[in-house]
Amino acid sequence: MKLRTALLLLATLADKADIRCHSCYKLPVLGCVDRKSCRLEPGQQCLTTHAYIGKMWVFSRLDCGTPGEPCKPAVNQTNQKGGLTYNTTCCSQDNCNSPAPRPTPALTLVFLTSLAGLGLWLLH
Ligand SMILES: *[C@@H]1O[C@H](CO)[C@@H](O)[C@H](O)[C@H]1NC(C)=O
Ligand SMILES: *[C@@H]1O[C@H](CO)[C@@H](O)[C@H](O)[C@H]1NC(C)=O
Repeated sequence: MKLRTALLLLATLADKADIRCHSCYKLPVLGCVDRKSCRLEPGQQCLTTHAYIGKMWVFSRLDCGTPGEPCKPAVNQTNQKGGLTYNTTCCSQDNCNSPAPRPTPALTLVFLTSLAGLGLWLLH
């Protein structure tokens, strides 16, 4: 009986220490696709990357930082391959990387015409 209580307590503590992040690609109109919840490894942070063309939001990526690809905060980071600008933020609270900003319908056309050329692989 005592052991069982201790195990239950341990399980509760482990659960509390468990930090999860939202993981998805947030696209105009479609919203968050491939939505998952990932668990942070010790020392890692949740990441949110917003991609822009100029000042216009194009898509966002939410994910867990990993030892191979840790979250690195960045402002106005540009990609050599195209006119994309990235803003990346990190946080380490449970589910702190909430999907934002909200998409607007006006972006649909631009999104559809630019998707082919600027595929999501740019972020990989
Ligand atoms: C990225 O974040 C910075 C600082 O918050 C902000 O000034 C800038 O406008 C953002 N970039 C874009 C393209 O929105
Ligand atoms: C990032 O770019 C935005 C838009 O061009 C600009 O308003 C902002 O001041 C820049 N922020 C930094 C930290 O360079």
